[in-house]
Amino acid sequence: MHKLLSNWSSNIKSLPESYIFPAESRPGDAIVPFFNTIPVIDLHTGRHHAVQQVLEACRDFGFFQVINHGVDENLLIDTRMVVKEFFDMPNEEKADLFSEDANKKCRLCTSTYDYDIEKNHLWRDNLHHQCHPVDDFIHLWPQKPARYRDVIMKYSLQMGNLSTRILELIGEWIGLGPGYFGDGLTGVQIFSANHYPACPNPNLALGLPKHRDPTLITFLLQDAIHGLQVYRNGEWFGIKPTPNDFLVILGQQIQVISNGKLTSPTHRVVTNSSNHRISIVFSINPKPDSIIEPAKILIDNSNPPLYQSFQSKTFRKTYQEKGDYGEDSLDDYKVKA
Ligand code: OGA
Ligand code: NI
Repeated sequence: MHKLLSNWSSNIKSLPESYIFPAESRPGDAIVPFFNTIPVIDLHTGRHHAVQQVLEACRDFGFFQVINHGVDENLLIDTRMVVKEFFDMPNEEKADLFSEDANKKCRLCTSTYDYDIEKNHLWRDNLHHQCHPVDDFIHLWPQKPARYRDVIMKYSLQMGNLSTRILELIGEWIGLGPGYFGDGLTGVQIFSANHYPACPNPNLALGLPKHRDPTLITFLLQDAIHGLQVYRNGEWFGIKPTPNDFLVILGQQIQVISNGKLTSPTHRVVTNSSNHRISIVFSINPKPDSIIEPAKILIDNSNPPLYQSFQSKTFRKTYQEKGDYGEDSLDDYKVKA
């Protein structure tokens, strides 16, 4: 509990040693250009057009922005607001949620739940909870602020619907046919809110290190502060935040199902010295026992499977144990040539 950055981060002048990343992975002083060609999918412009855009976006980038997404604008504002109010509460009010037990279905921690064994700590506080089906989990969510449960329930339901639409479009494009992404592949839906406080030495710290999402697919809602960067062709690029829209990031498990037609992008989060930043990450994940493998319909003599089958939970364990945030976690499952 005393670990929470919100307890102490505003009182310090320089970064504690354990938050300083090694020279090869810290952001340093390099100027990072913004990425100017993020693919945009407009869900309003009709199905066929949207599919074509998804196609381009997913093959080349692994991430895209979605506009006219159908999630109420006021709900986005309220969601960011209750999350901010949550992190702004005095620490006593949050104490009962603080936990480093990975199995807890609703937990608050600083950095990660591996705080006591990790090499470097991340400059963030994180609230993480399950939300599907909502009725199974809502009683575990924060009770304060008073509107939290109501707002996040609505957000979870609308995000569930949006993810179904997006996965349908992706499935159609890669040739999986309708309804491929059923409950087994999408049944674990996680709401994860990050609070990245202003940081005294942003060039030495990271909000999240270089990683590839272990999810099926991730929907990111940001505030107006920049922090997200993607790694492409050996270079980092900043992503301009778009607070009214979502950034969709493909996870490693959809990369496997697509047999490598889709790519899960490498990205990280940097901090800054003047502003705190909030990001809200809604991720769709397979149920732990689900089998993840290249979709059979995509496999033939000229398209052999690139990955072996695995249980989703086994992959998550590999991801966690390797401790490299997903850089190599799929290597163990690649079919050897
Ligand atoms: C993540 C992630 C980006 C952000 O949670 O996996 O990449 O801006 N978050 O917080
Ligand atoms: Ni990520």
